[in-house]
Amino acid sequence: MSKKVDPKIDTALKHKLYEASVQNFEVDVDFINAEYEKNFGNAPLTLREDFGGTGALACHWTTIGDEHKAYAIDLDPEPMKYGVENHRSKLTPAQQKRVEYVEGNVLASHGFKTDVVVAFNFSYFIFKDRSQLVKYFKGVYDALENRGAFFVDIFGGTECGEELVEETEHDDHTYFWDCDKFNPLTNECLYYIHFKTHDDGVKYERVFTYDWRHWSPREVVEAMEEAGFSTVKTYWEGDDGDGGGDGEFYESTSEENCESWVTYIAAFK
Ligand SMILES: C[S@@+](CC[C@H](N)C(=O)[O-])C[C@H]1O[C@@H](n2cnc3c(N)ncnc32)[C@H](O)[C@@H]1O
Repeated sequence: MSKKVDPKIDTALKHKLYEASVQNFEVDVDFINAEYEKNFGNAPLTLREDFGGTGALACHWTTIGDEHKAYAIDLDPEPMKYGVENHRSKLTPAQQKRVEYVEGNVLASHGFKTDVVVAFNFSYFIFKDRSQLVKYFKGVYDALENRGAFFVDIFGGTECGEELVEETEHDDHTYFWDCDKFNPLTNECLYYIHFKTHDDGVKYERVFTYDWRHWSPREVVEAMEEAGFSTVKTYWEGDDGDGGGDGEFYESTSEENCESWVTYIAAFK
């Protein structure tokens, strides 16, 4: 039996559990570097993490090399405070100078350009109208250097429109991805994240809420092209031979659907 707590959770625990459940920024950064280099022939140095939350990826970026600089943009000061205290504080003083947390809207102009912009964990699904999505993508296009690349992730599959709860066990907690509502006429959807900590058996309900539109890869590609990107690439994850993904993503435009998939889309300026 779990003890239910609705919805209060300590801020630090909330971000720690979230990061342990959904983030794998080292894998994202390896992918970004490989695809950028394949397209432009050199390594990117500057990165902007949109919807940055705790800015964990931006902090990691500064550890790659002495010229690597990153920005993390988010509307909400709470995850940024956690990131400053728990990620930026672990960097060397020189690395700390090369990461900047920006409290602001990703739709605004921030007065700097970067080689790479990323929007991960599907955060751009917050834009429900196509005009808003294209406006955001145009802003990203303008904020990129001439040899710039924009990376997003996306999920789908036959199960993703179903109102069900997916449970994932981690060493010290259970992660619940709860699709509470899915409107098949508009693709608007409501998701919750719940956590259960194993040591005390407490279940924290609705720790995060996402009121999104579920965009398809084709729609995202077309919106990126309309925003001005000259090349947009879709990718697919290799098969581990056991019904799962192998963590290796390759460029592709045609695949067989499955119950659940996550992949990347990259747009080059
Ligand atoms: C799903 S979290 C993503 C966190 C992190 N990027 C990750 O990959 O796990 C979404 C974040 O987007 C932020 N956000 C939502 N709308 C935004 C906007 N228009 N501009 C900047 N940040 C926004 C929220 O405050 C929240 O921290």
